[in-house]
Amino acid sequence: MKPLVVSIPGEVELARQLARRLDADLANMEIRSFPDQETYVRIDSPVEGRLVVVAASLDRPNSKFLPLFCLIETARDLGADQIGLVTPYLSYMRQDDRFRPGEGITSRYVGSLISDIVDWMVTVEPHLHRYEKLSEIYAIPSRIVGVAESIAAWIDDNVEHPILIGPDEESDQWVDPVAEVGNFPSVILEKIRHGDYDVNVEQADDVEWSDRQPVLIDDIISTGRTMLEAVEHVTEQGLADPICIGIHGLFVEDAYEQLQSAGVADVVTCNTVAHSTNAIDVYDDLAAAVESIVGGEASVAVAPKESGLTPQ
Ligand code: R5P
Repeated sequence: MKPLVVSIPGEVELARQLARRLDADLANMEIRSFPDQETYVRIDSPVEGRLVVVAASLDRPNSKFLPLFCLIETARDLGADQIGLVTPYLSYMRQDDRFRPGEGITSRYVGSLISDIVDWMVTVEPHLHRYEKLSEIYAIPSRIVGVAESIAAWIDDNVEHPILIGPDEESDQWVDPVAEVGNFPSVILEKIRHGDYDVNVEQADDVEWSDRQPVLIDDIISTGRTMLEAVEHVTEQGLADPICIGIHGLFVEDAYEQLQSAGVADVVTCNTVAHSTNAIDVYDDLAAAVESIVGGEASVAVAPKESGLTPQ
């Protein structure tokens, strides 16, 4: 039987794109909020014995988690053989330590929650900083889709004489592979974050880049403060207006408008979170990762779960 693709509200396009590439059925289903904001779910396609692929990018996660949980438990309850989560943007990765006494390490708790309800997961470039691997906090098989080649191809097609710039030390893991694939020069800035909306960036070394088109690359654009500071830094050097590439464009509040009015040449993102800046397509790679995890060793190791959360 073909796999069945289901989705949380707002993710129908992702579900449709996955179903087409995986030769899967797109579920007839209804998922919505009751007037009191509880979730209603009905899957009106056969589920018994099937591989169910759940499409759910997890930006703005707090309002998505309960619908996601109810949808997955419904599929499990209706007899799904295996349930996999395809989440192009995996949130709750940045609180990866207890930076101040009393803080919760929420990445762990969310990792545990998701690991309890699905059998495997596919995502795109999760924010791995203090964790080296997803398996440190996710107890299920997972595949990470890398975007270095896609970003390098976009730059190659659209930018003459680029220099890649990472706005902070963590960004080297996204900048360096793109620089390597595309054979582009690169530099990493230093960031000091004083608060959610209070960020400074500085340049460690002298770099000769006056004849180059600056291309800023970061994994997440959330409030936009990191990019804005980096844009300001580049502008202060008297360089060309930079192009900003974010793998995941969350654009909280007016972040996008602020970037546009900061004098950038362009803002470009991957289509992991739907936005008008989406120019780099990850759907083919997501589908290939699903095929790899379902067809590979991981699927053999995956035992179907019981319905319900495992008590901690
Ligand atoms: C930081 O750890 C990330 O790599 C990004 O630099 C950060 O999430 C960007 O956030 P914001 O847009 O709020 O500055």
